Amino acid sequence: MAEIQAVRWDQEALVLLDQTKLPSQEIDFVAHTVDEVVDAVDRLVVRGAPALGAVGAFGVVVAMDQGARESWTADQLSQQILRVRNARPTAVNLAWGVDRVQPFAAQGRDEVLTQAHQIVVEDTAANRKLSELGADWILQRTGASKLRVLTHCNTGALATTGWGTALGVIRELHERGALDVVYVDETRPLLQGARLTAWELEREGIDYRVQADGAASSTILRGLVDFAIIGADRIARNGDSANKIGSVGVALACQAAGIPFMVAAPSSTVDLDTASGEEIEIELRDGAEVTQLAGVNIAPMGAQGFNPAFDVTPAKYISAIVTEKCVVEPKDSPDVSALVNGVNK
Ligand code: MRU
Repeated sequence: MAEIQAVRWDQEALVLLDQTKLPSQEIDFVAHTVDEVVDAVDRLVVRGAPALGAVGAFGVVVAMDQGARESWTADQLSQQILRVRNARPTAVNLAWGVDRVQPFAAQGRDEVLTQAHQIVVEDTAANRKLSELGADWILQRTGASKLRVLTHCNTGALATTGWGTALGVIRELHERGALDVVYVDETRPLLQGARLTAWELEREGIDYRVQADGAASSTILRGLVDFAIIGADRIARNGDSANKIGSVGVALACQAAGIPFMVAAPSSTVDLDTASGEEIEIELRDGAEVTQLAGVNIAPMGAQGFNPAFDVTPAKYISAIVTEKCVVEPKDSPDVSALVNGVNK
C-alpha cells in the first residue's frame, strides 16, 4: 500500500492531502500563493506539528515564486514569509521550518527547495528512529508482550512527512507483533482521532476502537489500557509539553492509574528557547468549532464557545519523552536538552 503523503512538492506547487475532507474524500489542495498556504494551515487542510514544519519550508518557496511572478520587493517578500511563519502559533515546527530554509534564500530559490526536501527526508527518518526507541522503552517498562494503548488526536503519517510519531510507535509495536488494541480518542472539536487516526489505523489493519474524549479517563482507570502515548506541538526545555486539547486529562488519568504516559516527537518539536510550558502560546480558535458540528448548531443559538486548541501537560505527569535522539524521563531530567543533543539516556 502506498505511504500517505500529507505534504509534497509537485509541478511547482505545494500539494497537500486535504485533511478537512478525510475520511470520506481523498482530495488534494494545491497552493501556489502565500494566501493559499496560510489558508490551508488556518483551516487545518494540513496540520500536525512535523507536517507544519515541512509546510513552513515549502511555504518559503511558494513565497519566493509568487514574489518573482509579482515583482515583490525584498521587504514584501519578508513580510509574506512572516505570514507563513505565524499562520498558527503553538507548533514550533512551523516557524522552525521557515527559519531553517530562509538563510538559503541568498543561494536562490532552487537551493531553498532542496533544503525543504531535505526536511522531509530527515523528518521521516526521525519518525522511524523515535518509533523504535519508543517501542523499546515501553516494552522494557511494562514487560508486556501485547500492549493495549490509548492515543489522542492524530500523530500519524498525516501529521508528519511520513510514518508518524506517537502513531509511529504504535505502528512499530504492531510490526513487532506487540500490539493488542488502540483506543482512539475522537478528539473534539475537529475530530482528528475519529476522522484521521481511525482512517490510518484502518489502512494499516490495526485493531482499534474510537471512543468519546470523555471516556478516556474511565478507560484508563478501569485498567483497559497499558499505556497512553501522544505527540507534541512544542516541548519546553523543562519537558512541559503542549499538545491537542484533552491531552493533560489523559496524562492525569495515567498518573492516577499508575501506567506510563509517553510523549513522542522529533527533535524539531523541542524548543529549548522556551523555558517552561507557561511560555507556550496556546492557539484560541473560533468558538463556533465547539458549538457546531459539521456546520450544524449543537448549542442554543447565541451560545459562546471556548476553544483553546491545545493544552500543556506539566513534565511531572510525563513518564517519558522520546525523540530520534533518545528517551528522557523528565523526573530524572529537569532539562530535556538531550532530546535535541542526544547526550544522555
Ligand atoms: O490542531 P492539530 O490537528 O494541528 O493538532 C495536532 C496535534 O495536537 C498533534 O498531536 C501534534 O501536532 C503532534 S503531530 C505528530
